[in-house]
Amino acid sequence: MKKNHTAVKSSIVITCAKGITPYLKEEVLSLGLPILAESVASIETEGTIVEAMQMNLSLRTGHRVLFLLQEFSARNPDELYAQVAKMAWENLIPEDGYLCVTSSVANPTVKDSRFANVKCKDAIVDRIKNKCGRRPDSGPERTGVVIDLYWKGDECRVYLDTSGEPLSRRGYRKIPLQAPMQETLAAAVIRATGWSGNGNFINPMCGSGTLAIEAALIALNKAPGLIRSHYGFMHSKEFDEPSWRGLLRKAEGQIKITLGDKIIATDNRPEAIQAARQNARAAGVESWIEFGVGDFAATPIPEGKGVVIINPEYGERLGRLKALGDIYKSIGDFFKKKCQGYMGYIFTGNFDLAKRVGLKAQRRIPFFNSNIECRLLEYDLYEGSRRRHY
Ligand SMILES: C[S@@+](CC[C@H](N)C(=O)[O-])C[C@H]1O[C@@H](n2cnc3c(N)ncnc32)[C@H](O)[C@@H]1O
Repeated sequence: MKKNHTAVKSSIVITCAKGITPYLKEEVLSLGLPILAESVASIETEGTIVEAMQMNLSLRTGHRVLFLLQEFSARNPDELYAQVAKMAWENLIPEDGYLCVTSSVANPTVKDSRFANVKCKDAIVDRIKNKCGRRPDSGPERTGVVIDLYWKGDECRVYLDTSGEPLSRRGYRKIPLQAPMQETLAAAVIRATGWSGNGNFINPMCGSGTLAIEAALIALNKAPGLIRSHYGFMHSKEFDEPSWRGLLRKAEGQIKITLGDKIIATDNRPEAIQAARQNARAAGVESWIEFGVGDFAATPIPEGKGVVIINPEYGERLGRLKALGDIYKSIGDFFKKKCQGYMGYIFTGNFDLAKRVGLKAQRRIPFFNSNIECRLLEYDLYEGSRRRHY
């Protein structure tokens, strides 16, 4: 392990929800960082720890930013211990700090990955105890330094999890409601529509408001990391606080102060709108979203263009398949009659229900919501089909 990682480039792996990689890739490239490799739920880039901090601040679709500390070969847990104990942990982890070790293990000598975690953790704390006379506490909370071990066959990589808590926990969701969309998934879904503040963003059936809140953050160019005040990298002895303050100042300076178009979010349950409002307030975007309680079909659609995006229940978690079929049909009618000139989107995990919409989707973009395969269905609600009733 190098003495200090602040100015040293290393491999950085960013994990994400399954299928989100194309959107994460665009984001990483837009930060000027290269893509070295990709898988279904991660990409690899390289950069300094300051660039890792930048990604924690800016990425909308990533989950964890893992900075490679060391790679080596280990055939069994004893070799793992010996290799990890060689690393200069006393330079990275405060002896009075708190440590959490996570892992992804596929080694024939290890039946339970928790055993590898314990071996790795023991090597770290024993080393710190030898060097400093005291050892950090350890446990499952991601509140201090988080070390991630990747061990496949003989190949071992030890990462600093610079995020700590996953970045999907933006910190604005104050009231949990049923079936909310994960923040990073919502951001990826909006990216897939191509909307970035150009045109109105209408979100009937908004539930806890995730799509509308993520849309407001995107339109305002507000880095999602500005909402959160706690990251794993802050607990390392090498935490470069001046650089972090500089990144925060720069991100704050890039927030737009006006929006040309409207963001509208409605739901028929008053308690959903109350939660959505409170979440939007916590994200600092409440004043940019027009909230309303009512049936989705009564959502006001302003003159002009934009996207109407609906995430209806799809029966997996909330039930009621028969009634849902009628709702999907009414969404089709709503799109046809009231949303001409807009692009319409439905995010659903039930492809039979989707058929009830009765419109031809021009794109069916795949996503996963937890492990449920979903589609973002895109409908071009071109103007010609609208008969205006003035
Ligand atoms: C799957 S949830 C949306 C979750 C949302 N994307 C989030 O992140 O919290 C579906 C929402 O549709 C609302 N809903 C169901 N039927 C409705 C209707 N006829 N009109 C308006 N909202 C409705 C429910 O109250 C629920 O909040």
